[in-house]
Amino acid sequence: MILITGGAGFIGGNFVLDWLADSGAEGIVNLDKLTYAGNLATLESLKDDSRHIFVHGDIGDKELVAKLLAKHQPRAIVNFAAESHVDRSIHGPAEFITTNIVGTFNLLECAREYWNGLDESAKKAFRFHHVSTDEVYGSLSATDPAFTEANSYEPNSPYSASKAASDHLVRAWFHTYGFPVVTTNCSNNYGPYHFPEKLIPLVILNALNGKPLPIYGDGQQIRDWLYVGDHCSAIREVLAKGALGETYNIGGWNEKANIDVVKTICTILDELMPRADGKAYVEQITYVKDRPGHDRRYAIDASKVERELGWRPAETFDTGIRKTVRWYLDNPAWIEGVVSGSYRDWLSKQYN
Ligand code: NAD
Ligand code: TYD
Repeated sequence: MILITGGAGFIGGNFVLDWLADSGAEGIVNLDKLTYAGNLATLESLKDDSRHIFVHGDIGDKELVAKLLAKHQPRAIVNFAAESHVDRSIHGPAEFITTNIVGTFNLLECAREYWNGLDESAKKAFRFHHVSTDEVYGSLSATDPAFTEANSYEPNSPYSASKAASDHLVRAWFHTYGFPVVTTNCSNNYGPYHFPEKLIPLVILNALNGKPLPIYGDGQQIRDWLYVGDHCSAIREVLAKGALGETYNIGGWNEKANIDVVKTICTILDELMPRADGKAYVEQITYVKDRPGHDRRYAIDASKVERELGWRPAETFDTGIRKTVRWYLDNPAWIEGVVSGSYRDWLSKQYN
C-alpha cells in the first residue's frame, strides 16, 4: 500500500490513474479534502477497483492521518495535497499557509511517529516523497542559466513561499530526525484533468466558448512545460530509486513564452475544431492587467534526475499539447462537472 495525498487533484489524479493502470501495482489510499480543485470525476474509472481506497479528509487532521497510517501500514507517502494556484494565493493567502505549511508539518509529524514504530526492515524501506515546484527558486532573467538543485530559494508569491516553507520542513525532518524523505521540484504541468483556472485549460475552454483569451502583461513570461504523465513517471522513478534527503528537479526542456503557448493552442484548435465564423482563434487573444509580482522566467535543469536515475520526459511540447487539446475536446462531461458556480465566481473575481 502507498498513501497519496491530493489524489483527486490534477497531478495526484493522473498519478493514481497511471499507477493503477499497471495490473500488478500496489493499492493506493488516497486522502483528499476535495477543495474546489479536487474532483472525484477524475477517478470515476476506479470506482470498482478495490485497490483504490478514497478517504475524504484533510492532511492537517492529526487524528485521521494517524488512524490511516496505523490501519493501512503504507510503505510510502506521496504528498501532492496543496493549494496550488498563484492567483488565488494573491487574493487569499491564508489557505496556502494552512494546507501547504501547517498541513505538511502535520503529515510529517504523523508519518514520523508511524515510522518510528515500524520494524527495522519496514523502517528502512519507508519513503516520504514531497511533491514541490520550481517556483521556490524565484524568477530568472532571459540569460540566467536554468535552475539547478543548488539554486537558493527565492520565492516571490504567497504560493511559492508556502511551498518553499514546506520544502524546508521536509529537509529539516531528514537532517534532524533521519526521517526518510525525497523532494521533487517540477516545472509547469499540463495535460488531462487540469482545472481550468490555469493557463492552458483556461485558454482551451475560453477559446471554445468564444471568450477572451487573457494574456497577463506582455505575454513574454517564460515557463518550462512538462506533460503531466511525464511528471508522474518521474515521481515513480524518484520514489523507487531516489537517494534519501536529496532533491530532484523535474522539467520538460520546453521553455515557452506564454503568448506562444496560447498561439499554439489556437492553431491546433483552428485545425481540430474550426470556429463557426471561419475566423482564427488568435482573434480572441486579449491582453489584460499583469499579475502582481509576476515571475518573468522559470527554467529547469533536469540533468541530475537523468544522470542519476535515468529519467527523461517522453513527450515534447508539440506532442503533449496536441494530446491535451484533444482530451479537452473529447471529455465535455468532465468539464461540465468542474465548471460549477464556484468556478464562475472565481472567473468574475479574477477577470471581471
Ligand atoms: P491541484 O490544485 O489540482 O490539486 C490539489 C489537490 O489537493 C486537490 O485535489 C485538493 O482537493 C487537495 N487538497 C487541498 N488541500 C488539501 C488538504 N488540506 N488536505 C487534503 N487534500 C487537500 O494541484 P496540482 O496541480 O495537482 O498540484 C499537486 C502538487 O504538485 C502540489 O503540491 C503543487 O504544489 C505541485 N506542483 C504543481 C505543478 C503544476 O503545474 N500544477 C507544478 C509543480 C508542482
Ligand atoms: P499558471 O497556469 O497560473 O501557472 P503559474 O503561475 O504557476 O506559472 O500561469 C502560467 C503563466 O501564464 C503565468 O506566467 C501566468 C500566465 N497566465 C496568463 O497570462 N493568463 C491567465 O489567464 C493565466 C491563468 C495565467
